[in-house]
Amino acid sequence: MQVYQEKKQIKAVIEQLKTKQLTLGFVPTMGALHQGHLALVEEALANNDKVVVSIFVNPTQFNNATDLEKYPRTLDDDLGLLKTVSEDRILIYAPTVDDIYEGQTVSQKFDFDGLEHEMEGQFRPGHFDGVGTVVKRLFEIVSPDNAYFGEKDFQQLAIIKKMVEKHQIPVTIVGCDIHREANGLAMSSRNARLSPEQKKAASFIYKVLTTAKKQFGTKSAYKVTEWVEKQFSKNDVLRLEYFVIADEETLRPIQRKSKTKKYRAFIAVFADDIRLIDNIALN
Ligand code: PAJ
Repeated sequence: MQVYQEKKQIKAVIEQLKTKQLTLGFVPTMGALHQGHLALVEEALANNDKVVVSIFVNPTQFNNATDLEKYPRTLDDDLGLLKTVSEDRILIYAPTVDDIYEGQTVSQKFDFDGLEHEMEGQFRPGHFDGVGTVVKRLFEIVSPDNAYFGEKDFQQLAIIKKMVEKHQIPVTIVGCDIHREANGLAMSSRNARLSPEQKKAASFIYKVLTTAKKQFGTKSAYKVTEWVEKQFSKNDVLRLEYFVIADEETLRPIQRKSKTKKYRAFIAVFADDIRLIDNIALN
């Protein structure tokens, strides 16, 4: 399994693969890999000849300096995990900040037709400009046929699809299911920072989401939201940042339930300074 630090090197290898007509899948990550990431890699391996996995903690998408500083970095473990999936069909791109940003660590400004103003966009200013900037650059370097993103970050997935459409980037975006711990907690690199007590308490997030889904069958979005907020107001370990029921396509908060639309509940919660997000399809 080859690890490339420089775009020049990996681009040369990819060019060779392309001349052999091999298909290329791509899984961008920020490392601290877990089963959720590996599921994306497995899906990519099942549908492409070779798969590039990028491991890069992208500074421009962090709106909080402490979050960036404390983000887990475990490259050796990550490489070990990837080896268990495939020894010879994965290429790893683990660049430095300079290799990606060439001395100018700033975001490009994007217009994602309003998707960027909802939820994560409201609470993490500039986040999606950072994500758009790095993913667009990575697509230029890797030029994959297919790229894989988790529904865990449903808004990010929607934004990447929008970017590809608006900028006419020749890649197919594939969305993948959310992977969870046995207790329901959505897997996340940030979970590594939770204490055992916080981890146990965080299973409450998915419990609330599944109950909210049941309630949504008979109750208004307003009533469900009120109920969720009340549950968290009684919780000593978790602090609710937002709970929003939104139209899956526009990501706008629901106004009036329509039978023809698909809805999803989105949640962001803090355990101390560790921020966790999750979501669930409601219908
Ligand atoms: P990261 O948080 O490392 O996630 C990389 C990919 O793994 C994303 O597509 C994310 O949605 C997916 N993923 C994370 N946890 C998952 C889970 N529990 N189940 C399924 N998929 C999961 O998302 C990013 O990195 C960055 O924003 C990135 C796209 C790499 C740009 O920097």
